Amino acid sequence: MRVISGRVFFRGQLEPLSIGIDEKGQIAAIKKVLRGDEQIDHGDALILPGCVDLHVHMRDPGLRRKEDFPSGTRSAAIGGVTTVADMPNTVPAVTTTAALDAKAAELQGRAAVDYALYAAPRSPEAVLRLNDAVAFKVYMAESTGNLEVTVPRLEEILRAAEAQSKLVVVHAEDPGKFSRQKAKNLRDYDAARPKVAEETAIATLARIRGGARVHVAHVSCLEALNSVPAGATCEVTPHHLFLDASKALGARGKVNPPLRSPADRDALWDAFRQGRIDAVASDHAPHTMDEKSALFEEAPAGLPGVATAFPLLMRRIRAGDLDLPRLVSAMAVRPAEILGIAKGTIDVGRDGDLLVVDPRNIEAVTAKRVRYKCGWTPFEGMEGCFPRAVYLRGEPIVEDGEAISEGQGRMIRASA
Ligand code: DOR
Ligand code: ZN
Repeated sequence: MRVISGRVFFRGQLEPLSIGIDEKGQIAAIKKVLRGDEQIDHGDALILPGCVDLHVHMRDPGLRRKEDFPSGTRSAAIGGVTTVADMPNTVPAVTTTAALDAKAAELQGRAAVDYALYAAPRSPEAVLRLNDAVAFKVYMAESTGNLEVTVPRLEEILRAAEAQSKLVVVHAEDPGKFSRQKAKNLRDYDAARPKVAEETAIATLARIRGGARVHVAHVSCLEALNSVPAGATCEVTPHHLFLDASKALGARGKVNPPLRSPADRDALWDAFRQGRIDAVASDHAPHTMDEKSALFEEAPAGLPGVATAFPLLMRRIRAGDLDLPRLVSAMAVRPAEILGIAKGTIDVGRDGDLLVVDPRNIEAVTAKRVRYKCGWTPFEGMEGCFPRAVYLRGEPIVEDGEAISEGQGRMIRASA
């Protein structure tokens, strides 16, 4: 048995404990003192559950010039993420079982962390066929991949998903509220795909939701959050918490839904701190520097973030603006619960997916540190608290802050 010790986040609080992990990679015991054939002592560093990022775009297959599964999952590991759920707007898009099976086959043996796959059903019949997907993604407006559906179609998909008890993650923007004006900068882009487009789409979703399990992706403002109906869940991205349209990012900050004003960002941060938002998800959506260097109106929307979500939030704990249980809930416990997968909690019988972090270890976020294939991060120069070590089912995948292995990640299928 491998024994990993430190100040463990267990049952809602930190305690000096030892975690014993068996040969299957599962937690066999958690005790004050444990003896094993291998002892790893992390002293007073914190041991937290590995993060679960329920919204990433690893661009594999089909768009590997932007990112690929080995590079994207290594970056995930560097940022303390041990499970990712990958969106279906890869090429070909995951709208059929053939595409889902081909994607699963292609990714096998190439991931540094565990992963689950979304599908994008375009009809109620497709919902039935795509049952192997961990959950469904539906776009109410155009974004990278052109997978949007009409409201009547969405309603049919929701009814079919409800019958299968499947989670539906919704990109909620109402294209009827977009302006036709070409945006030349981030403030224009905020005005072109305004807050009310998000608010209206979420209100429509609330009206047609019925008994379906619905999760609203990337709420960008308080108005959107306030429209999320009771019983539905939602996520916020680190870019909507840490960046806004006043930053000099140009097209690198172009994303759907757009970055909002500094005041919107403050209000969103307060709501997050108060526990009104279930999960933080990166919406890691890399595009190359070349693509992002085009004219603002032509540049693709989306920005990378899988490696920086946890470090940026962990830094806020050290600064005293966030508490640890809130962070662990939003980055590990709730995303796993929302996806319905047995991850995100340190307990006996769970996978030994752990991150080890010293809150005093503050580093600058740089493109080099996060190692994305796309070669840039919108959080360049900000402070982050990166994990020192990360374990996937008890095996080290990060040591001294660097990813040391790949290929151990397994696909997590939908639990029946
Ligand atoms: O800005 C975005 N980019 N929003 C999305 O919903 C998709 C994403 C992408 O895949 O590039
Ligand atoms: Zn996305």
